[in-house]
Amino acid sequence: MNFQRCFNTSEDTFPLPPHLRALYGPFGFPQPPEDRPYITSNFVMSLDGRASFRELEGRTGGHEISRSSEDRWLMDFLRAHHDAQLMGANTLREEPGKDVRGWDFGIDDDELRIYRRETLKLRPQTIIVVTALGNVDVSLPIFNSARVEPWLLTTENGETNLKSRLKAVGREGTIKIISVGSGKWLDLAAAVALLRQRHGIQTLLCEGGPTVYAELLQKRLIDEDFRTLSSQVLGLSTVPTIDRPSSYGGVSYEPETAPWFKLISLHYSLPYHVFFRLRYQGPRPGHGMK
Ligand SMILES: NC(=O)c1ccc[n+]([C@@H]2O[C@H](COP(=O)([O-])OP(=O)(O)OC[C@H]3O[C@@H](n4cnc5c(N)ncnc54)[C@H](OP(=O)(O)O)[C@@H]3O)[C@@H](O)[C@H]2O)c1
Repeated sequence: MNFQRCFNTSEDTFPLPPHLRALYGPFGFPQPPEDRPYITSNFVMSLDGRASFRELEGRTGGHEISRSSEDRWLMDFLRAHHDAQLMGANTLREEPGKDVRGWDFGIDDDELRIYRRETLKLRPQTIIVVTALGNVDVSLPIFNSARVEPWLLTTENGETNLKSRLKAVGREGTIKIISVGSGKWLDLAAAVALLRQRHGIQTLLCEGGPTVYAELLQKRLIDEDFRTLSSQVLGLSTVPTIDRPSSYGGVSYEPETAPWFKLISLHYSLPYHVFFRLRYQGPRPGHGMK
């Protein structure tokens, strides 16, 4: 694997096998906050910051932008170290997967899958899909894979819809549904608090999409970002009415409020990819050059 380390100032809390430590360097997280999980995100983006060829049906999303076995390995590495993954329902709908029926979002790398299970002894790989409407196709691979445990995070209305969908296909009670609030949209701050307090999730990896990520960022719930920079340019769109989103979604800041991120580690694979690990710092007061 053509994965190189530039520098790495990570905490060192995970017992990486020696050859992975030699490759990646140390890996660890700070203690999670008491009231919610430690929340990170992982996206691949283009030089112009785009996260999806959105309007090109069947060719949207991370896989098309990445085209890198090193990035795929790093995604598995991050999945292996987190209690659970979080994902918006649109990512599920729009990411076609290799058989056009979608991915199961599991860990492909055998060594990392076994390391998670036998060395880290983490819970079964848990993937939490956020949906307000509850219009989720439970025949997709994520809901039918032995490798992952899907949960649905929704509102009271979404729960009613999901339960009747599951009943209609004879799968009542087979998928965990967590309902938060009765509003149209659920409060992600309350939801992640519940994930920590009631469901024991201490580390949560947001894998998209930009809408879910932007909500977390806006509520200051993002602790770290893993970003793969794929050195290509996507541009705005080939259909003027459909924008290609940036991995940061619809946030808008001013110089005084724009959040900064501190570089924790930097890896690369020549000639096309750079892998950033960034820790949320928040707005930087003043206009000095420090
Ligand atoms: N480059 C990358 O690494 C990467 C990673 C992931 C995704 N992507 C791309 O990003 C695109 C999808 O992103 P997206 O921003 O459109 O969608 P998204 O964030 O994946 O999902 C948005 C959906 O999540 C649900 N949701 C979000 N916040 C909610 C809340 N507070 N309460 C209840 N439900 C909530 C809603 O589902 P309902 O509509 O069901 O109510 C909403 O429509 C795709 O093109 C995908 O390929 C790229």
